[in-house]
Amino acid sequence: MAVRGQFSSRLGFILAAAGSAVGLGNIWGFPTQVASNGGAAFVLVYLVLTFIVAYPILMAELVIGRHSQSNMVDALKKISAGNIAKKIGAGTGYWALIVVSLILSFYMIVAGWMIAYMFQAVTEVLGWSAASTWLTDFSISRNIIFSLIFALMTIVIVSRGVSSGIEKWSGRLMPMLLVLIVLLIIYVSMQAGASEGWKAYLVPDFSKVLNGDLILSAMGQAFFSLSLGVGSMLVYGSYVSKKENLVSLGASVALVDVGIAIMSGMLIIPAMYVALANGVTIFNEAGQLIGGDQLIFTVIPALFETMGGAGDYVSFVFFVLMTIAALTSSISMLEVPVAFTIESTKLERKGASWAIGIFVMLISLLLIFNFDVLFGLVISLTTQYSQPLLGLMLCIFTGWVWKRDSILQEIKQGADDVESSLFWKIWPGYVRFVCPSLILAMAYHTIFVG
Ligand code: PHE
Repeated sequence: MAVRGQFSSRLGFILAAAGSAVGLGNIWGFPTQVASNGGAAFVLVYLVLTFIVAYPILMAELVIGRHSQSNMVDALKKISAGNIAKKIGAGTGYWALIVVSLILSFYMIVAGWMIAYMFQAVTEVLGWSAASTWLTDFSISRNIIFSLIFALMTIVIVSRGVSSGIEKWSGRLMPMLLVLIVLLIIYVSMQAGASEGWKAYLVPDFSKVLNGDLILSAMGQAFFSLSLGVGSMLVYGSYVSKKENLVSLGASVALVDVGIAIMSGMLIIPAMYVALANGVTIFNEAGQLIGGDQLIFTVIPALFETMGGAGDYVSFVFFVLMTIAALTSSISMLEVPVAFTIESTKLERKGASWAIGIFVMLISLLLIFNFDVLFGLVISLTTQYSQPLLGLMLCIFTGWVWKRDSILQEIKQGADDVESSLFWKIWPGYVRFVCPSLILAMAYHTIFVG
């Protein structure tokens, strides 16, 4: 069995785990959801749910990971006592492996679009209009080429291992991302129309806060955004030293994730209104803000176009930013099956990264060739159904299967006084009762109410 890697520092872990959390989900998904779910009201509910549902599950993953020092399949087996529990644990782990590979397969396609738009900013400056058209038109050839490029970047980083691959790259890319977002926020804020956007983003309509759909979307967003359920956080937790305080590490990661999401909203929502002031349509027939693919690939490039000569450069920076965010997330996805493979077969990290990476690329190709049928289906099966249900399983294993005393011993390492803390008073009961109830209520709503 291969020697287990470890993050070399506290900051290294925070950057890597925050890198996993911060991705297309924050910069693309969150502002879109804000736009179509009542603006500031959504932000409020999302914040609350992140801390009462998502953060406790994040903690469960980190604690299970560090305690078991293994991938999700073996981890859930290790914390279970009986044979049946071990079997269910392993089954849950395998399910997570499948789900995370499928998430990676569609994520590579979307991230590939980001790279294509990044190149398009360059071809625009060079005046190569045929190339620009090819880069922005939806075609099988473009989708294949750029998702392959993104896949190769992911594989190369993961194949280098924990401290020299994952940690080093997340450490470089994450701070760059922050700086780029701040600069863009300042830039957009100075444009005409931005103040309308700020109003929509910051002034909540309290009558919408208790809306069922809004709560549901906010819950889903919190899950996807914190990379929960599929073992990414669990496996990163297994690389954390026993000297670290998991409670505060987890809180830092959640804070960074939420912070970047909020900042993306500060960029995208005012940017939409700037586009509106420049004559770009940002509302659909129903009077709602445009969301989904169209948000980034129609409104944002249109915004850049109105900036004159500077537009292409800002566009380049923006899509570099999106690619970076996607990359630090995709490496945490590929790490899940790779960790499992090197810990249960004779394959080394390099071989496993390439073998699994190529396998996921093949699934991606399948999605690209059957885009209309498979793309949306895979997204909803993985993120809307599987992630919350896997979160539920993690709650059950933490709250009902794993011995509470053993959990306490694990958390105490690096946090001596945790037993008397507010965290330990609330968290065990939360994962046992509150989190499962909330997830079940959500599942019920999705299946029966729609
Ligand atoms: N959290 C990532 C994002 O917001 C997506 C992700 C999901 C990463 C699952 C890892 C595992 O884009």
